[in-house]
Amino acid sequence: MPRELPKFGRDEDPADFAVKLRLTVFRTQGATARYYSVTRGTISRYESGATTPPLGYLASLSRSLLTKDDGTKLSDAEQAARQQHLLAQIKELVRLFPDKYKLQVAFSNWEQLCKEADLYESKHSGRLSRSAPIKTPDSEGQSGHSDSPTPALQQARSSQNTSGGPAGAGISSPQIGPAPGSAPPIPTLLLGRDEDLRQLKYRLGVGVSTEEPVPLRVLTTMRGWPGVGKTSIAAALAHDDDIGRRFPDGILWASLGQNPSIFAELLAWGRALGQPDIERVTSIEEASARLSALLRNQRRLLIVDDVWEVPHARPFQVGGQHCALLLTTRLPVVAQAIAPPDDIYLLDVLSDEAALELLRILAPSAVAAEYDACKILVKELEGLPLAIQVAGHLLQSEARLGFEVTTLLAELREGARLLEAQAPADRAEVSNQTTPTIAALLQKSTDRLKFRARVCFAYLGAFAAKPATFDEIALKSVWQVADPRPMIRTLVNRGLLEPLKPLSTGRFWLHALLAMHARSLLTD
Ligand SMILES: Nc1ncnc2c1ncn2[C@@H]1O[C@H](COP(=O)(O)OP(=O)(O)OP(=O)(O)O)[C@@H](O)[C@H]1O
Ligand SMILES: [Mg+2]
Repeated sequence: MPRELPKFGRDEDPADFAVKLRLTVFRTQGATARYYSVTRGTISRYESGATTPPLGYLASLSRSLLTKDDGTKLSDAEQAARQQHLLAQIKELVRLFPDKYKLQVAFSNWEQLCKEADLYESKHSGRLSRSAPIKTPDSEGQSGHSDSPTPALQQARSSQNTSGGPAGAGISSPQIGPAPGSAPPIPTLLLGRDEDLRQLKYRLGVGVSTEEPVPLRVLTTMRGWPGVGKTSIAAALAHDDDIGRRFPDGILWASLGQNPSIFAELLAWGRALGQPDIERVTSIEEASARLSALLRNQRRLLIVDDVWEVPHARPFQVGGQHCALLLTTRLPVVAQAIAPPDDIYLLDVLSDEAALELLRILAPSAVAAEYDACKILVKELEGLPLAIQVAGHLLQSEARLGFEVTTLLAELREGARLLEAQAPADRAEVSNQTTPTIAALLQKSTDRLKFRARVCFAYLGAFAAKPATFDEIALKSVWQVADPRPMIRTLVNRGLLEPLKPLSTGRFWLHALLAMHARSLLTD
């Protein structure tokens, strides 16, 4: 029987397709990595979406897939149809993800695909080019199909019994970022979060003393401003000893983001559970069902970080009654759709004291030299760790050069310097090891707004005082509308405006960093 051809499904992304395609040729990531002489981490990054799978790699797998491996004679027409199918999938990939493949054009015929495959293979494994080994539509009448399997398929066969092992196990070369399925490293600096950690641990069934019996909440959704520290605190929990004792079977971690590779993340969980054959499943539903069965009697903490859409989270709700699921999101609308109010934990900004202490640790000489100005800056940055981290690093590099920091302090308060600065190193994109700017991190939230909402949000920047709080009447006049409530709802749902506590004040808070971003949108 000819092998079944993978199809690029709706809602999938290049990583999902890379998994499907690879599974038709190699059973395990390890075998694939050996064949291409790359690390298993490389293949796993292609399949987790951390790195865009190169077209040459997809081309090479496609070619290997079509090489007849089972003696079945296909007619030329059948073979050509199979080539066309694979070409069409790759073209669709390039069409749907222009940002990922912006420097590449899809191949228009099979020979071009084979050339790209050669290029990838020779670049990675030093193998000599093996020009199109199978009959192409353009080579009618030539030698016909080879009955011998490609090296790739031979390798796949010989590795049929090779276990991929649990995620992270057996990776001999260092890989960038954590192994799929496992948590990021413990944060190097986590100030002012003792009470949040205590409360979150309590929700996860850990009391202050070991004698205290604490009921386990199976679901907690943590939400909060962009950069408030959701991922950091989730990572701290994942490495916490009490949590480790409460969930002796371990932690599973998935980082989603706006365009997650859900299928690949689920497969990574399966592998982390010691089930390499999870790779045989063919759909997200099947993967979830397998994981549910595996986790039924386990005591594990599942952490799904950075959820942007409700349907993205559903497949990860696979824990049994002894598991807990911790989700994080910037978006109140997502938190509310997933969890009842009691199961939502609002991660607030740092206190002024903790924020100043953070700045002092990051930029000791600047704080010593300009204590009062730093205190004002910290207050104006409204306890957001992301902003304080960036400000601290900028101040420290200025002070290290022996420059006085007064000008920089003034620029930081005004906003532009902060927005154009690079985010801290722990926010580096795994795919290309570049750190985005703060503006780019914030833009993720505002890019998703419809035009009108974006304009209304931008106007808030122009009218924002320090601190930026508005009541309904002010918003009505800023937006020039009869009823500001629909727009308030939209911005609150998207985590861009927060009702001020106590609610009886009737005011809404635009965080200082978002106010800076709003102003910059207006200028744009
Ligand atoms: N309590 C803290 N003390 C010191 N640094 C912190 C603290 N919390 C977060 N940070 C730092 O602030 C930055 C933003 O934190 P993090 O990425 O955890 O925020 P987030 O809420 O997950 O953001 P996003 O909404 O973009 O996912 C990181 O560089 C992190 O190391
Ligand atoms: Mg995060």
